[in-house]
Amino acid sequence: MELYGDPREKKGSQSNLCKDVAAMIGSNNILDVGCGMGHLIPFIEGRTYFGWDYSPKMLEKLLEFFPETPVIQGDATLPYDEFKSELEHYVLRPIETVVSVSLFIHLPTIDDVKATLRNMWNTATREIVFGVETMGDSVLTRGSGLNIRNISVDHILSILQGEGRDELGIPRDRISFLHQQMTYKQQTVIHPNKSSPMAMTPPQLFQRTTLFHVRKD
Ligand SMILES: C[S@@+](CC[C@H](N)C(=O)[O-])C[C@H]1O[C@@H](n2cnc3c(N)ncnc32)[C@H](O)[C@@H]1O
Repeated sequence: MELYGDPREKKGSQSNLCKDVAAMIGSNNILDVGCGMGHLIPFIEGRTYFGWDYSPKMLEKLLEFFPETPVIQGDATLPYDEFKSELEHYVLRPIETVVSVSLFIHLPTIDDVKATLRNMWNTATREIVFGVETMGDSVLTRGSGLNIRNISVDHILSILQGEGRDELGIPRDRISFLHQQMTYKQQTVIHPNKSSPMAMTPPQLFQRTTLFHVRKD
């Protein structure tokens, strides 16, 4: 799993994303699913926070940065009954907001995304807020073997609004979303037969994160 630097510094793209996510949260009682090292925490100071992640290494890092934070080690894709009983083991009162930032990007299947969304939706009493990479529907495998999943906005909307068994049946007027600033990267073209080096293409869009906010009522 990639590490994104010290979250307390509030620097870098992950912190930028978390800052925007924090601005969308409308409660003081938050469960952060796939919390990683806690990049959201500095932006929600003073509110009740629980982190949930399946990686002990990530939770260890989080606790180094933010000691005493309540964290739960578990799989976000569990069937809801198991997710709920795991959560209730640690959290006694209802959770108002369930958040997830850059978790879906690493989930192996779209069914895992649906299961996680269902867990988030069934857990939250007020709202869910989540960030997802939305450059089409695709899974790219990086050189490191890490999978990067993109899910189109239409596909997310169909999971949220659809009435099927794995969908959530949420009315459209409870759903809003915005695109996080687009990130551009210079692409380099190498001409193998020329000693003279390279031509630069215009900057290319390579990532777009869409932040969704869904109200319970
Ligand atoms: C890219 S990191 C994002 C961390 C954090 N939300 C942030 O914005 O910096 C994704 C996190 O999701 C966790 N994760 C991946 N699959 C998971 C699963 N099935 N259940 C719970 N956590 C998971 C990883 O361990 C990792 O910490």
